[in-house]
Amino acid sequence: MAQQDWWRSAVIYQVYVRSFADGDGDGTGDLAGVRARLPYLAELGVDALWFNPWYLSPMKDGGYDVADYRAIDPAFGTLAEAEKLIAEARELSIRTIVDIVPNHVSDQHPWFRAALAAGPGSPERELFHFRRGRGAHGELPPNDWPSQFVGSTEPVWTRLPDGDWYLHLFTPEQPDLNWAHPAVRQEHEDILRFWFERGVSGVRIDSAALLAKDPDLPDLATTPHPHPFVDRDELHDIYRSWRAVADEYGGVFVGEVWLPDTERFARYLRPDELHTAFNFSFLSCPWDAEQLRASIGTTLAEHAPVGAPATWVLCNHDITRTVTRYGRTDTGFDFAAKAFGTPSDLALGTRRARAAALLSLALPGAVYVYQGEELGLPEAEIPRERIEDPMHFRSGGTDPGRDGCRVPLPWTADAPHAGFGGEPWLPQPDGWAAYAADRQAADPASMLALYREAIRLRPAFGEGPLTWLPAPEGVLAFTRDTGVRCLVNLADAPAELPAHSRVLLSSGPLDPRGRLPRDTAIWLRA
Ligand code: NOJ
Repeated sequence: MAQQDWWRSAVIYQVYVRSFADGDGDGTGDLAGVRARLPYLAELGVDALWFNPWYLSPMKDGGYDVADYRAIDPAFGTLAEAEKLIAEARELSIRTIVDIVPNHVSDQHPWFRAALAAGPGSPERELFHFRRGRGAHGELPPNDWPSQFVGSTEPVWTRLPDGDWYLHLFTPEQPDLNWAHPAVRQEHEDILRFWFERGVSGVRIDSAALLAKDPDLPDLATTPHPHPFVDRDELHDIYRSWRAVADEYGGVFVGEVWLPDTERFARYLRPDELHTAFNFSFLSCPWDAEQLRASIGTTLAEHAPVGAPATWVLCNHDITRTVTRYGRTDTGFDFAAKAFGTPSDLALGTRRARAAALLSLALPGAVYVYQGEELGLPEAEIPRERIEDPMHFRSGGTDPGRDGCRVPLPWTADAPHAGFGGEPWLPQPDGWAAYAADRQAADPASMLALYREAIRLRPAFGEGPLTWLPAPEGVLAFTRDTGVRCLVNLADAPAELPAHSRVLLSSGPLDPRGRLPRDTAIWLRA
């Protein structure tokens, strides 16, 4: 595959900087920590790193409230350090993807502060969505839009002392920008250039299907079609101009596009728009052979007409960690179903997560690995008084929020705080050191060893399409055009292996009769 097409089949590792590695000992992960761990990432074999927002931010939503898109938050480091990191990673053949948040800014962003100061009717307020309220005295929010934090009981409008209300699909500290304003478009194209000029190879686009709003801001109840703020047609024009900027630098996009309608989803991936988008259907899919086969089939079918590669994602910084999810009765992911105290059989979940890793890494397209997934970390139950995630607070305290998948990583089993650095900003649960990278590196049966080996062997599948093979019920079996096969057994009974010349890798041992046990995956050379 040509160098410039690296993103079509890349393994991309997601770095949540705040929780990755703490270089200066203050308990918050930082760029120094990432730089020190680059050899680990090179050894893992990943092609690129996606960094969650690392910009100046009051951290009201883990950095998705950006006060300055051209500055690094001092808790993480400096711009000069980010430039060094990008260059050092590149020396190790690892590319960098930054996370741009175009739907909203922090309420501390200079534009929003200026808008507040300038008052109702000012041109400064036109960069956002300011409106008068409804009701006799404007005391009611301008419309009925629901929060984009699923489960939130809070309004998406906040009223100011001067009587204006402003729109925020997420927290009040994240005012939505007005994408119908030319200055908003110009500014974001400049931000893209700023980062491409610093050597980044790609950009992840946060909340990519939410930017455009119906200018009348109508009630959703009375005007559901077209939706007043999700997946509006105007977005495609925005992304076509972004694509032109990216093409000047050879940069690529990955969009955070949550859309159930696969045909609408694929429109974002037309050749002059985004290169890729996250596959949330696969991520949400229960551990069930038929549902996984259908999800994979639909994904490949929807991408084919636009010529875009699929992406395969099992979790990220918003989602319950894989080993915990797969060990539960309900193995799918649904924000609305999150609850405190949901039991999980972690041994079962881990076995399935190992098989799922081999499944994802055998599929055609790009694969995302979220930090700690390669260590098999479970979701942590964070004590209520230590939770920071606004999703928890905006649900009235019923949703545990997303901090459970954001716990600082364990690096060294015998070091304080499992080698993360200083006293971690989120508590590490008891037993966290057992997952430490140093311990796993020395154990050929560990999750880390499996990921390293799978990423090393993955090119054996080649770049060709997937062909399903006949298989017993509950077994997924497919081949790629190199003849390398992947089988995953989700049935109760062990599965016979087809004729093969070699076992390349398996997620667990075969049974004494050489059959593939339940919840196990294997790669075979035919
Ligand atoms: C999606 C991000 O992944 C999530 O963490 C964030 O809270 C929202 N977008 C708002 O930016």
